[in-house]
Amino acid sequence: MSEYVTVERRGEVAVVIIDNPPVNALSLHMREPLFAALVEFNGDASVKAVVVACAGRTFVSGADISEFGSPKSLQSPNLPELCAKLETLSKPSVAAIHGTALGGGFELALSCHYRVADKGAKVGLPEVHLGLIPGSGGTVRLPRAVGAIKALDMIISGKPIGAEEAKTVGAVDAVAEADLVEAAVEFARLKVAEGAPLIAVRDREEWRDKDRASLEGFDQAAAAHAKKARGLEAPVRCAEAVRNSLTMDFDDALLKEREIFLALLSGDQSKAQRHLFFAEREAAKVPGVGKEVAARDVKHIGVIGAGTMGGGIAMAFANGGLAVTVLEMNEEALDRGFATIRRNYEGSIKRGSLSEKQMEERLGRFSRTTDYGDLADCDLIIEAVFEEMAIKKEVFAKIEAVAKPGAIMATNTSYLDVDEIAASTDRPGDVVGLHFFSPANVMKLLEIVRGRETAPDVIATALALGRRIAKVPVVVGVCHGFVGNRMLAARSAENEALLLEGATPEQIDRVFTDFGWPMGPFAMGDLAGLDIGWRNRKALGTTAVIADALCEMGRYGQKTQKGLYFYEEGSRAPKPDPEVNRLIEEKAREAGIERREISDREITERTLYPMINEGARILEEGIALRASDIDVVWIYGYGFPRGKGGPMFFADLEGLPKIVERLEHWHARTGNAVFEPARTLKEAANSGTRLASMKSSA
Ligand code: NAI
Repeated sequence: MSEYVTVERRGEVAVVIIDNPPVNALSLHMREPLFAALVEFNGDASVKAVVVACAGRTFVSGADISEFGSPKSLQSPNLPELCAKLETLSKPSVAAIHGTALGGGFELALSCHYRVADKGAKVGLPEVHLGLIPGSGGTVRLPRAVGAIKALDMIISGKPIGAEEAKTVGAVDAVAEADLVEAAVEFARLKVAEGAPLIAVRDREEWRDKDRASLEGFDQAAAAHAKKARGLEAPVRCAEAVRNSLTMDFDDALLKEREIFLALLSGDQSKAQRHLFFAEREAAKVPGVGKEVAARDVKHIGVIGAGTMGGGIAMAFANGGLAVTVLEMNEEALDRGFATIRRNYEGSIKRGSLSEKQMEERLGRFSRTTDYGDLADCDLIIEAVFEEMAIKKEVFAKIEAVAKPGAIMATNTSYLDVDEIAASTDRPGDVVGLHFFSPANVMKLLEIVRGRETAPDVIATALALGRRIAKVPVVVGVCHGFVGNRMLAARSAENEALLLEGATPEQIDRVFTDFGWPMGPFAMGDLAGLDIGWRNRKALGTTAVIADALCEMGRYGQKTQKGLYFYEEGSRAPKPDPEVNRLIEEKAREAGIERREISDREITERTLYPMINEGARILEEGIALRASDIDVVWIYGYGFPRGKGGPMFFADLEGLPKIVERLEHWHARTGNAVFEPARTLKEAANSGTRLASMKSSA
């Protein structure tokens, strides 16, 4: 029939096979012949049933994302038309699902009368991750198959479910034990033989009637989901669409679903989330580290330091199935570190995300030591000791003395010069920065700091290892603070200045949370520990008036129950502290600053814009390979709101000329270098180039 769609007859059953590599996406060139085949079957009396199957490694795994936003995706026959055609076939249709039936692929399958899945198959509607709702009947058909509450859960979480669960909840009708297509053909034959009236999913009444009778239960479930949406529109609109499937008749709900889908598709949030989808995949591509560079074998990790980061890093590796040896200065420090690790696991058990058995398995992967000799067998040793160059070098000398040939020697430093650390060893090619984010067992970002001498296979290993422990790795270059913390520093000084000039920590934090950040900079500073920056500033000979004064008072943040805020015993909720306000007023007086009312707008311009500006410089210098890498760093390392796509993407939304103009304004007023517009930013603003799509030319 076509290169992308072929038909095979098995007696009275016509098997249509989709073959659109790599993932059988719903491209126009595949939709056209598929639609034509369905039209033909309808008119062919010798065809008694139809099986829709796929060649290659998976069933249709979704829309063709490269068509998104282009007229091609909507061109006839579009997916809704295909679904309607399948649904109104005059003979039974069966989807034969292997691999993953995701998004449009699952919607296609739901439009068949029946679904037979391979044992290892998964089905799901992950559109929410792209800032969308399912747009071809997913929100209307799935509730009729599995009930509204289960459908809502699947659609809002975007998480696929396995074949067995799909069978249990009613998303598929049978699980094939052996040959899938044969099982689907057999299933179709059975239905023909039964001769029962054909009922499409759209016409199923059982769940629909049950759900309609208990709208209240649905609304409660939807409200619980809405609470977690954190400013994202798509989850809320998913719930609205599923609700419509209960309150409207099928066709009206379907129309409304399409309307919501199209509105989201053209909105900024979905654009931002689609940008991130591609950005994350792009970040995995690193010049000089192609497929031909084999990663080194890593089974056993050594972690030096069992503090905030060392403990979290050790957990991240153990969670990923690796053996981990943790080294500390003494037994007490080890006891403390392991007590925290256990407490963290127990917390996960309490929250229901981990079983007792899993905790024991993970704890079983750890060993502890105070003797460097015990690290001789490690394939990778990472240090997370105090942030001081002299200590790092001393630790690296000890690592080098015991590390076996080919072992990777990594530092989790936040700011220090990885090249200087590497140069202090005799094997700089084996040295790399692996910069985890706090809490390291939770945060997804891993900045892989590529030193001047870092060997390509060390980078390949770091990338593979990062993915193995479920992190999002981004390769960055050496500079003070790399990508994330360097941009953070560009705004930190302004945060302090704003405090002195009249803002309060609560006001600034509120501007950030209103923007969509999970927490403001001061609450975050308290969480991470103010002493880290303090140590760093002391090493550099720089100061931060308020943060330094707080540290001198022993106010390190949550760990001491006092930082920019006050924390009640056992609580992580920041409470404004009059002592801090007095300190700010006193420091302002000392500096001769007259405090004034500060607008929220000013806070945004003086904190977010310098970050964007610094991002442009980072790109200029080649510290980041692409602007989109910077966005990935900020989304996964610092909780930049996903719906805004990261600082570089957001800059384009905000308008580069406006940002340049405001930077110039603040530069003139304050003389502060963070406001001096970067060359790249000015050029992009003048030429109308999108910042987010720029690559480094350095
Ligand atoms: P921390 O103070 O909580 O832990 C440091 C640990 O290292 C302590 O348990 C200490 O006993 C141990 N230690 C110090 N010197 C040692 C030595 N010579 N041998 C063995 N153990 C030694 O500090 P934290 O926050 O875990 O930071 C560690 C490193 O991670 C620093 O380089 C920091 O810049 C970096 N980092 C910190 C982040 C954070 O948010 N806390 C985020 C990312 C990186």
